[in-house]
Amino acid sequence: MKDWFYNEFKQVGVDYTDKTSADHYDVQMDFRDYDEEVKRFVDRLAPADTRTMTAIDLGCGTGAFSVHAARYFRTILAVDVSREMQSIAEAKAREAGIANIEFHRGGFLGFRPAEPADVVTTKWALHHLPDYWKQAALLNVNRMLKPGGFFCLTDVIFPFDPDFEVSVQSLLDGLARDHGQEFADETALHIREEYSTFDWVITGMLERAGFKILEADTASALTTEYLCAKIETPG
Ligand SMILES: C[S@@+](CC[C@H](N)C(=O)[O-])C[C@H]1O[C@@H](n2cnc3c(N)ncnc32)[C@H](O)[C@@H]1O
Repeated sequence: MKDWFYNEFKQVGVDYTDKTSADHYDVQMDFRDYDEEVKRFVDRLAPADTRTMTAIDLGCGTGAFSVHAARYFRTILAVDVSREMQSIAEAKAREAGIANIEFHRGGFLGFRPAEPADVVTTKWALHHLPDYWKQAALLNVNRMLKPGGFFCLTDVIFPFDPDFEVSVQSLLDGLARDHGQEFADETALHIREEYSTFDWVITGMLERAGFKILEADTASALTTEYLCAKIETPG
């Protein structure tokens, strides 16, 4: 490893290697319906038959995607830099008798699957990397996929104009009202210490990494979701 290479195992912002944070994660996410999220995703891939496909879940966390998607895919590779988060996902898979998830400790920059996959998905994890390294990560995602493979990126991505102070404050006020102060405080920490960026930066990066954006869902104030197809391998 070159000495200038980014250490993606070093946490920024929320420390997901802290057991208390990991144990609290699903409680904090109780406004989400993991099964519904997965079902919507699988429906978007139709008419493709996902049961013949291999999917890679980057930043799998406690298994929001992998554990709930296992029955729809042939194999899922669940990848995360945090042993603490991943071990919660592993325990859920064991308890549910799921045998088609392979767990890998690794990250966006360093993970190399043995075979290219049909689908790569990642939710609320890419913002842990600064922009230069997001681009490197997206190029690596491209290499993980078969030609024509799908990439779904969901993250906190800012759709607002550079007039960001007003936009950030109204976002935080809305979150405190709708999801409580704890969630708003964690979002403030996210904005202060993590690396979410503007939508126009991300779309440029996706295109430069060899993806065509098929759909962009910007309906939520906090989250943008891009469904992409790999159209070329840059460089
Ligand atoms: C907010 S959680 C999201 C978990 C899950 N994807 C979900 O939808 O609930 C972010 C996860 O990304 C992981 N992570 C942070 N940096 C990473 C990297 N460079 N590569 C892979 N995972 C990373 C963290 O350890 C954490 O489990």
